[in-house]
Amino acid sequence: MAPRGGRQMKILGICGSPRNGNTEWMIERVLEAARNAGAETEHILIKDWDIRLCTGCLTCEMTDKQTPGVCVIKDDMEAILGKMLAADAFVFGTPVYFYMLSGLLKNFMDRTIPIWPLLKNKTAAGVAVAEDAAGKALENLRTYADVCNLEWIGDVSAYAKDPGDLAANEGVAAALGGLGRRVVGGTEQ
Ligand SMILES: Cc1cc2nc3c(=O)[nH]c(=O)nc-3n(C[C@H](O)[C@H](O)[C@H](O)COP(=O)(O)O)c2cc1C
Repeated sequence: MAPRGGRQMKILGICGSPRNGNTEWMIERVLEAARNAGAETEHILIKDWDIRLCTGCLTCEMTDKQTPGVCVIKDDMEAILGKMLAADAFVFGTPVYFYMLSGLLKNFMDRTIPIWPLLKNKTAAGVAVAEDAAGKALENLRTYADVCNLEWIGDVSAYAKDPGDLAANEGVAAALGGLGRRVVGGTEQ
Protein backbone atom coordinates (compact mmCIF):
# COMPACT_ATOMS: atom_id res chain seq x y z
CA MET A 1 0.00 0.00 0.00
CA ALA A 2 1.31 3.39 -0.95
CA PRO A 3 0.99 5.66 2.08
CA ARG A 4 -0.21 9.17 1.31
CA GLY A 5 2.35 11.72 2.42
CA GLY A 6 4.17 9.05 4.45
CA ARG A 7 1.18 7.99 6.53
CA GLN A 8 -1.32 5.15 6.44
CA MET A 9 -4.21 5.66 4.02
CA LYS A 10 -7.56 6.28 5.74
CA ILE A 11 -10.71 4.92 4.14
CA LEU A 12 -14.20 5.73 5.37
CA GLY A 13 -17.08 3.39 4.53
CA ILE A 14 -20.50 5.08 4.62
CA CYS A 15 -23.50 2.77 4.72
CA GLY A 16 -26.92 4.08 3.70
CA SER A 17 -29.07 1.12 4.75
CA PRO A 18 -31.46 1.47 7.69
CA ARG A 19 -30.71 -2.14 8.70
CA ASN A 20 -27.75 -4.45 9.25
CA GLY A 21 -28.05 -5.99 5.81
CA ASN A 22 -26.48 -6.51 2.43
CA THR A 23 -25.09 -3.01 1.96
CA GLU A 24 -23.19 -3.23 5.25
CA TRP A 25 -21.84 -6.64 4.24
CA MET A 26 -20.69 -5.33 0.85
CA ILE A 27 -18.91 -2.28 2.27
CA GLU A 28 -17.27 -4.45 4.91
CA ARG A 29 -15.82 -6.74 2.20
CA VAL A 30 -14.31 -3.68 0.45
CA LEU A 31 -12.87 -2.36 3.71
CA GLU A 32 -11.53 -5.79 4.70
CA ALA A 33 -9.55 -6.01 1.46
CA ALA A 34 -8.32 -2.45 1.97
CA ARG A 35 -7.15 -3.27 5.52
CA ASN A 36 -5.34 -6.34 4.18
CA ALA A 37 -3.62 -4.01 1.73
CA GLY A 38 -2.42 -1.83 4.61
CA ALA A 39 -5.09 0.86 4.92
CA GLU A 40 -6.82 2.08 8.06
CA THR A 41 -10.61 1.84 7.77
CA GLU A 42 -13.72 2.96 9.59
CA HIS A 43 -17.28 1.96 8.74
CA ILE A 44 -19.99 4.53 9.44
CA LEU A 45 -23.47 3.03 9.61
CA ILE A 46 -25.54 6.17 9.15
CA LYS A 47 -28.51 4.57 10.94
CA ASP A 48 -26.53 4.31 14.19
CA TRP A 49 -25.69 8.04 14.36
CA ASP A 50 -27.82 11.02 15.26
CA ILE A 51 -27.99 12.69 11.85
CA ARG A 52 -31.04 14.89 11.43
CA LEU A 53 -32.60 16.14 8.22
CA CYS A 54 -30.93 19.02 6.39
CA THR A 55 -33.21 22.03 6.81
CA GLY A 56 -31.93 23.69 3.63
CA CYS A 57 -31.10 26.98 5.37
CA LEU A 58 -27.65 27.17 3.71
CA THR A 59 -26.23 28.97 6.77
CA CYS A 60 -23.37 26.47 6.54
CA GLU A 61 -22.31 27.38 3.02
CA MET A 62 -18.56 28.01 2.74
CA THR A 63 -17.83 31.64 2.09
CA ASP A 64 -14.25 31.00 0.97
CA LYS A 65 -12.53 27.92 -0.38
CA GLN A 66 -10.61 27.08 2.81
CA THR A 67 -12.83 27.38 5.87
CA PRO A 68 -15.49 24.75 6.61
CA GLY A 69 -18.98 26.12 7.17
CA VAL A 70 -20.86 25.57 10.42
CA CYS A 71 -24.19 23.73 10.43
CA VAL A 72 -26.91 25.08 12.73
CA ILE A 73 -27.96 21.51 13.60
CA LYS A 74 -25.97 20.22 16.56
CA ASP A 75 -25.84 16.45 16.10
CA ASP A 76 -23.32 13.74 15.16
CA MET A 77 -22.72 15.13 11.67
CA GLU A 78 -20.10 17.55 12.97
CA ALA A 79 -17.90 14.64 14.13
CA ILE A 80 -18.46 12.77 10.87
CA LEU A 81 -17.53 15.79 8.75
CA GLY A 82 -14.24 15.82 10.65
CA LYS A 83 -13.73 12.16 9.78
CA MET A 84 -14.47 12.93 6.12
CA LEU A 85 -11.91 15.72 6.05
CA ALA A 86 -9.32 13.39 7.59
CA ALA A 87 -10.05 10.53 5.17
CA ASP A 88 -8.27 9.87 1.89
CA ALA A 89 -11.06 7.83 0.33
CA PHE A 90 -14.73 6.94 0.73
CA VAL A 91 -16.72 3.80 0.03
CA PHE A 92 -20.35 4.82 -0.33
CA GLY A 93 -22.93 2.05 -0.11
CA THR A 94 -26.66 2.09 -0.67
CA PRO A 95 -29.58 -0.28 -0.90
CA VAL A 96 -31.53 0.44 -4.06
CA TYR A 97 -34.82 2.11 -3.23
CA PHE A 98 -37.15 2.84 -6.17
CA TYR A 99 -34.15 2.51 -8.51
CA MET A 100 -32.27 5.22 -6.60
CA LEU A 101 -30.00 5.66 -3.58
CA SER A 102 -31.63 5.48 -0.13
CA GLY A 103 -33.04 8.58 1.53
CA LEU A 104 -30.73 7.97 4.48
CA LEU A 105 -27.64 8.28 2.29
CA LYS A 106 -29.06 11.21 0.32
CA ASN A 107 -29.69 13.19 3.50
CA PHE A 108 -26.15 12.32 4.64
CA MET A 109 -24.82 13.77 1.38
CA ASP A 110 -26.97 16.87 1.82
CA ARG A 111 -25.49 17.37 5.29
CA THR A 112 -21.96 17.54 3.79
CA ILE A 113 -22.71 21.02 2.41
CA PRO A 114 -20.46 22.65 5.10
CA ILE A 115 -17.36 20.94 3.71
CA TRP A 116 -17.98 19.54 0.24
CA PRO A 117 -15.53 21.84 -1.62
CA LEU A 118 -12.78 20.57 0.70
CA LEU A 119 -13.30 16.95 -0.40
CA LYS A 120 -11.76 17.71 -3.79
CA ASN A 121 -9.07 15.22 -4.94
CA LYS A 122 -9.99 12.54 -2.42
CA THR A 123 -11.09 9.27 -4.02
CA ALA A 124 -14.34 7.32 -3.85
CA ALA A 125 -15.91 4.00 -4.74
CA GLY A 126 -19.50 2.80 -4.53
CA VAL A 127 -21.56 -0.31 -3.90
CA ALA A 128 -25.28 -0.85 -4.39
CA VAL A 129 -27.58 -3.77 -3.75
CA ALA A 130 -31.03 -4.33 -5.24
CA GLU A 131 -33.50 -7.18 -5.18
CA ASP A 132 -33.57 -7.32 -8.96
CA ALA A 133 -32.89 -3.93 -10.60
CA ALA A 134 -30.31 -1.35 -9.51
CA GLY A 135 -31.68 1.48 -11.68
CA LYS A 136 -29.73 4.71 -11.20
CA ALA A 137 -28.37 4.06 -7.69
CA LEU A 138 -24.71 3.77 -8.70
CA GLU A 139 -25.15 6.77 -11.00
CA ASN A 140 -26.51 8.70 -7.98
CA LEU A 141 -23.37 7.89 -5.96
CA ARG A 142 -21.16 8.87 -8.85
CA THR A 143 -23.02 12.14 -9.33
CA TYR A 144 -22.23 13.10 -5.73
CA ALA A 145 -18.58 12.18 -6.32
CA ASP A 146 -18.46 14.24 -9.51
CA VAL A 147 -19.99 17.30 -7.83
CA CYS A 148 -17.39 17.03 -5.04
CA ASN A 149 -14.53 16.45 -7.49
CA LEU A 150 -13.76 13.05 -6.00
CA GLU A 151 -11.84 10.70 -8.26
CA TRP A 152 -14.09 7.67 -8.89
CA ILE A 153 -12.22 4.39 -8.43
CA GLY A 154 -15.03 2.00 -9.34
CA ASP A 155 -18.20 0.31 -8.19
CA VAL A 156 -19.90 -3.04 -7.64
CA SER A 157 -23.60 -3.85 -7.70
CA ALA A 158 -25.23 -7.04 -6.45
CA TYR A 159 -28.68 -8.62 -6.24
CA ALA A 160 -30.14 -9.70 -2.92
CA LYS A 161 -33.27 -9.14 -0.88
CA ASP A 162 -32.78 -10.20 2.72
CA PRO A 163 -29.84 -9.72 5.10
CA GLY A 164 -27.38 -12.58 4.70
CA ASP A 165 -28.39 -13.31 1.10
CA LEU A 166 -24.93 -12.42 -0.22
CA ALA A 167 -22.88 -14.20 2.43
CA ALA A 168 -22.13 -17.25 0.24
CA ASN A 169 -21.74 -15.32 -3.02
CA GLU A 170 -18.07 -15.80 -3.86
CA GLY A 171 -18.25 -13.86 -7.12
CA VAL A 172 -19.57 -10.73 -5.43
CA ALA A 173 -17.08 -11.12 -2.57
CA ALA A 174 -14.22 -11.34 -5.08
CA ALA A 175 -15.42 -8.24 -6.95
CA LEU A 176 -15.68 -6.31 -3.67
CA GLY A 177 -12.20 -7.44 -2.61
CA GLY A 178 -10.83 -6.25 -5.93
CA LEU A 179 -12.53 -2.90 -5.44
CA GLY A 180 -10.98 -2.56 -1.97
CA ARG A 181 -7.52 -3.19 -3.37
CA ARG A 182 -8.10 -0.63 -6.13
CA VAL A 183 -9.22 1.96 -3.58
CA VAL A 184 -5.87 1.51 -1.81
CA GLY A 185 -3.91 1.41 -5.05
CA GLY A 186 -5.77 4.38 -6.49
CA THR A 187 -6.35 2.59 -9.80
CA GLU A 188 -9.50 3.32 -11.73
CA GLN A 189 -11.30 0.22 -13.08
C1 LIG B 1 -38.33 1.20 0.20
C2 LIG B 1 -37.68 0.11 -0.60
C3 LIG B 1 -37.56 0.26 -1.97
C4 LIG B 1 -36.93 -0.71 -2.75
N1 LIG B 1 -36.79 -0.52 -4.09
C5 LIG B 1 -36.17 -1.47 -4.85
C6 LIG B 1 -35.96 -1.24 -6.26
O1 LIG B 1 -36.31 -0.21 -6.83
N2 LIG B 1 -35.36 -2.24 -6.98
C7 LIG B 1 -34.94 -3.41 -6.39
O2 LIG B 1 -34.45 -4.27 -7.10
N3 LIG B 1 -35.06 -3.61 -5.05
C8 LIG B 1 -35.66 -2.66 -4.26
N4 LIG B 1 -35.78 -2.86 -2.89
C9 LIG B 1 -35.14 -4.05 -2.28
C10 LIG B 1 -33.78 -3.70 -1.63
O3 LIG B 1 -32.95 -2.99 -2.51
C11 LIG B 1 -33.07 -5.00 -1.21
O4 LIG B 1 -33.85 -5.66 -0.23
C12 LIG B 1 -31.66 -4.77 -0.68
O5 LIG B 1 -31.04 -6.02 -0.47
C13 LIG B 1 -31.66 -4.00 0.63
O6 LIG B 1 -30.33 -3.79 1.08
P1 LIG B 1 -29.95 -3.87 2.65
O7 LIG B 1 -30.03 -5.32 3.05
O8 LIG B 1 -28.57 -3.36 2.72
O9 LIG B 1 -30.91 -3.01 3.40
C14 LIG B 1 -36.43 -1.90 -2.11
C15 LIG B 1 -36.57 -2.05 -0.72
C16 LIG B 1 -37.19 -1.07 0.02
C17 LIG B 1 -37.31 -1.23 1.53
